[in-house]
Amino acid sequence: MNIAVIGQGAIGLLWYHHLSQATNNLVSLHCSSSVTSVPKNYEFTDINQKYAQFSLNIATDNAFTSADVVLLCVKSYQVNAAIFALKNKISTKAKIIFCHNGLGAFNDFSALEQPCLALLTTHGCKINQPFHAQHTGLGHSDLGLINGNISNADRNNITSTFMSALPTLTYSDNIKEKQWLKLAINCVINPITALENIDNGQLLNDKFQAQVTALILEIIAIAAFENIEFNFNELREKIMTVAQSTAQNCSSMRSDILNKRKTEIDYINGYIVKVANRMNLSVPENEKLLREIKALEVQQ
Ligand code: PAF
Repeated sequence: MNIAVIGQGAIGLLWYHHLSQATNNLVSLHCSSSVTSVPKNYEFTDINQKYAQFSLNIATDNAFTSADVVLLCVKSYQVNAAIFALKNKISTKAKIIFCHNGLGAFNDFSALEQPCLALLTTHGCKINQPFHAQHTGLGHSDLGLINGNISNADRNNITSTFMSALPTLTYSDNIKEKQWLKLAINCVINPITALENIDNGQLLNDKFQAQVTALILEIIAIAAFENIEFNFNELREKIMTVAQSTAQNCSSMRSDILNKRKTEIDYINGYIVKVANRMNLSVPENEKLLREIKALEVQQ
């Protein structure tokens, strides 16, 4: 399969690395325009802490024209610009896969002829330095169609290519529910760990429980407007299980703040606030976190 991966961040390099290990894939990487010098090799430390260098195949215009799949691994606030910069280069036969945190990053599906899928992943990965990614935690990925149509043959082909590259992975017919679950997890874990400067596991501390409850109740109320039903106890349990299983991890938002980068808050708690405003509802806990993270970003 011909695959063009966009984005040299942790998740972009994680997928680039695993997909390019299969000899029947032709994988190339498109780096953001902010990268001034692209090395010939990239470095990868795998889940067993084995370090190696691999050659980097940079995407040419031809790679986009012949791509069966374009995998977009950029931050949610970069999605629109990335799509509009590339959309005329990508074959109309290609499938576009969005892999980012949050919701609402891209809405203009009518501007795209290609079918679009979402890829959600819970693998832990970090950038040790530019072009050196480290796989820090095994996870699971969900893939599903978010716009357009895809034949069974194409769906099976993409699913098996991605599944064999980086297991485990499931094709899901209800990816929207999975996107909402990830959103709820991110809405609770990311801003609190970023503001408090704590590892994910510390969220289990009693002192955060009232805030966590208030956040979950607001998220459930807003999800209902998008026909997503959550049960409070189940959702709380799922969020706490993620906090526990990633106890030693630094959340992506905390790491953005620590590294003085813009966060994805507008597409996480900001998405909840946006839908609430449209419905004339108030979500004070989400609004407060949105405000506080934005204030922290300004101080950087
Ligand atoms: O954004 C993140 O950091 C992750 O999605 C999660 C699940 C909160 C774990 O750190």
